[in-house]
Amino acid sequence: MNKVKTAFFCQTCGYESVKWVGQCPSCGQWNTFVEELIQKENTKSIDWKINGDRKRVNKLIALNEITSTEEKRLMTSDVELNRVLGGGIVSGSIVLIAGEPGIGKSTLFLQLGLSLKNNVVLYISGEESEQQIKMRAQRLNVNNDNFYLLTETSTQVIFQEIKKLDPDLVIVDSIQTLQTAFIDSSPGSVSQIKESTAEFQRFAKDTNTPVFLIGHITKDGTIAGPKVLEHIVDTVLQFEGDRNYAYRILRTLKNRFGSTSELGIYEMTDTGMKGVNNPSEILITQKEDQLTGIAIAATIEGIRPLLIEVQALVTQSVYGTPQRTVTGFDSRRLQLLLAVLEKRGGFHFGVKDVFFNIAGGLKVEDPSIDLAVLCALLSSYEDTSIPYHMCFAGEVGLSGEIRAVNRIEQRIAEAEKLGFEKIIVSRYNQKGLVKQKFNIEIITMSKVEEVYKYLF
Ligand code: TYD
Ligand code: MG
Repeated sequence: MNKVKTAFFCQTCGYESVKWVGQCPSCGQWNTFVEELIQKENTKSIDWKINGDRKRVNKLIALNEITSTEEKRLMTSDVELNRVLGGGIVSGSIVLIAGEPGIGKSTLFLQLGLSLKNNVVLYISGEESEQQIKMRAQRLNVNNDNFYLLTETSTQVIFQEIKKLDPDLVIVDSIQTLQTAFIDSSPGSVSQIKESTAEFQRFAKDTNTPVFLIGHITKDGTIAGPKVLEHIVDTVLQFEGDRNYAYRILRTLKNRFGSTSELGIYEMTDTGMKGVNNPSEILITQKEDQLTGIAIAATIEGIRPLLIEVQALVTQSVYGTPQRTVTGFDSRRLQLLLAVLEKRGGFHFGVKDVFFNIAGGLKVEDPSIDLAVLCALLSSYEDTSIPYHMCFAGEVGLSGEIRAVNRIEQRIAEAEKLGFEKIIVSRYNQKGLVKQKFNIEIITMSKVEEVYKYLF
């Protein structure tokens, strides 16, 4: 009998070690190592007899002999998803979709499967029963005769069924529930996830069938063993958003078949996910009302311009230590902007509580939002509203200078499209900018003080 082989895996990042260690050398987490059996009983790969025409034959070939054909892509009825994938589903590709529990991954991909009426789709669920999925499908109100369901977690059984059905697309919900007999550890452990993913990858490549793997991410935003999975799969999509809001963003983190700066925006409705084509209009609530503490930022998410409303509330502090409550924005960045205002403008934020929020439950990383954040803070501080037809795009530096941001023309065009009349941008963005091209008034400024004087 073979000696039982084990290894220790970090449950956060998937780092493998031969002995137990207290702190992970890769991600720095403590007490995350768990011993897993990694003995493989039988690694004989499956021979895919299905799809005679699609099956690949591996042989030595000179690069010049390969005729480049356009990748075959399967276009779905979901415009957002097509775009995020770089123009439809590539045959033989393996796509990982990561997201927190309850965000709507199962809903979105059940919907995708049901919408592909001319293709045989197999939806494998290890999480929900047939009844639950049926109920969900009824809620989505789509019917499809070519849609098959399998509630199974053993990969060996799954592959037997796949062989019988010969599907055009396979969706696995979720990778964490799968279990392969080749490995002895429990489902969801790093070695199981790794091996199951590898089996699906072999299947996808051998039969040219696209596979979607749904994966849960942990609270701090990492997929269990992400490093391991990310290099096995072709595309990694992240599904994010605040569960308490209706908006969801599907982001590409890695894509072998397209750009990684694509973005899809969805709205969760009571009949499933709906793509949002005009996100900016929805994210801005304020119309004619003059409210204080609100400013509009012209940001770029991925490669899409997006106008976002930021909201600030500045109140007198009751306790000795002022509160800073931030959602959707880096709290250290807010501290920094407050410090700039304190130093450059002489505002006493040290005795004020500051609450800050980005509308729609979005998270924004684009630094061009700085200027809008700062104006929202000032507007609440002064209790004076900012005219509603005005928006901002600029990064704020430590000495209070307004720095240039990229893709300025795209931002201006989006603001103009949405009916804004004025946009304040950095003076350093002026170079090469043809103001006459736009109907919107472009105001350039180089210092925070100028903005303050202009607004209040
Ligand atoms: P789900 O797809 O199960 O999330 P995940 O697979 O990422 O864990 O989505 C769960 C939530 O979606 C649940 O709270 C109910 C809600 N939902 C809707 O709002 N509308 C719908 O049409 C459906 C099917 C679900
Ligand atoms: Mg689910």
